[in-house]
Amino acid sequence: MTVQDAVSVQALAARLGPHFTLGVASAAFQIEGSLAAGGRGPSGWDAFAEKPGSIMHGHSPAIACDHYNRTPEDVELMRALGIDSYRFSLSWPRIQPDGTGAFNGEGLDFYDRLIDQLLAAGISPMATLYHWDTPLPLERRGGWMNRTTAERFAEYCAAAGRRFGDRVAQWVTLNEPVSVTLNGYALGVHAPGRTLLFDALPSVHHQLLGHGLAVQALRAAGVKGAVGVANLHSPVRPATRKFTDRLLARVFDLMMNRIYADPILLGHYPKPPLVARPWFRSLGKIADADLRNIHQPLDFYGLNYYCPVKVATGPGTDHSPVGTTDAMSRLHFHTAAFPEYGTTGFGWPVAPEHLGILLRELKDRYGEALPPLYITESGASFPEPDHVSGPIADAERISYLAAHLGHALAATAPGGIAADVELLGYYVWTLMDNFEWAAGYSQRFGLVHVDFKTLERTPKDSYYWYQALSRARRRGQATEPR
Ligand code: FCB
Repeated sequence: MTVQDAVSVQALAARLGPHFTLGVASAAFQIEGSLAAGGRGPSGWDAFAEKPGSIMHGHSPAIACDHYNRTPEDVELMRALGIDSYRFSLSWPRIQPDGTGAFNGEGLDFYDRLIDQLLAAGISPMATLYHWDTPLPLERRGGWMNRTTAERFAEYCAAAGRRFGDRVAQWVTLNEPVSVTLNGYALGVHAPGRTLLFDALPSVHHQLLGHGLAVQALRAAGVKGAVGVANLHSPVRPATRKFTDRLLARVFDLMMNRIYADPILLGHYPKPPLVARPWFRSLGKIADADLRNIHQPLDFYGLNYYCPVKVATGPGTDHSPVGTTDAMSRLHFHTAAFPEYGTTGFGWPVAPEHLGILLRELKDRYGEALPPLYITESGASFPEPDHVSGPIADAERISYLAAHLGHALAATAPGGIAADVELLGYYVWTLMDNFEWAAGYSQRFGLVHVDFKTLERTPKDSYYWYQALSRARRRGQATEPR
């Protein structure tokens, strides 16, 4: 570790409250592999990944990190890392292969073992119930475009709650419904590869309904843990002060952020600017009973933050977080680059100060309705070799993480711009390099390098940096007067 890194460790550790959670996050489909093993059924992502041209370099998720067979090794990596909590996702098609009806004992046993191993290692489990792997039979019937998926989802959540509810400390219903709708149903760059543009909006409502029904199902199942959701939030800025840029930025903010958070936290959908109303027609008339179901009290709110988004008038494909598609050229706006910021391997702007600004924005929008908050994902990919021997000097990742955690802590500290936000913890995306959806294995986000030929895991410098942070904080606590 460089002198500078050691300084950032000490400075950050000194600002972490005694109960602040440090964690790492992952998702089943990105790490497990063994897609046809242990009684798992296929998911919409399995089918999408098989379509030629859908995944960069034709990479296959079939093995990924082989985490399904290497769980003890991965839990040991986390134990040695010293984290408090691990956010992972339960694979719905591993637990309930058809998405309805019978449950798969082997799948349930797999997560039972994972949870028990985590607890034995002193790591608290945070389980996400849906991180994008819809069982294929449900996807074939329309997936989230079909309202009944919400009911099926709640049934599966109830079963997971009954089985794991005595040991899971935090439950996350959905991960980033916005990514599912935008990338999956509107633009077609993710599974299921549909290009419905604004006609994809029913998938928003059905996911939100699934969330609300799941919260109720978990509580009815008597889970001991806290219940929340993980939403991606990207602060949206207009490319210029021009009226149309500002108007379209408002529309984009609504599509990106508010259409998810408002119904969940406030119990109603945001109103689009008058001229944009026709675009939102496919949402249809929403029943009050649905809004009541969606608007459930939450124990925490999960915030995934990667970068801000800039919106400019006119169709175009000059910049997109996850790739481009012809469908984008049929829109009246596009996302534009931030020349003032450096970028990650994905080309995403590195803008840590926007995390503080975002926390302020959330409190301004939701006030008392904003529950205590975890940053449930934060991290970056940078180009790294596929095969390594010896240490991996990922200084850019260390400074990315230090800056983001630093801005979040500064913003929420007394006197900070978001001092009234209760920040409970921070989860790095991600423990180890993995299958980054449509980008295949081309984007390495891990604290641990994975060689996808040998499956060897090699901790990067950022792993040792996070470990030092966790240790420095613990030492601080031990000597702290009570
Ligand atoms: C988030 C996803 C996560 C991963 C990171 C890089 O949007 O939740 O699975 O792909 O981006």
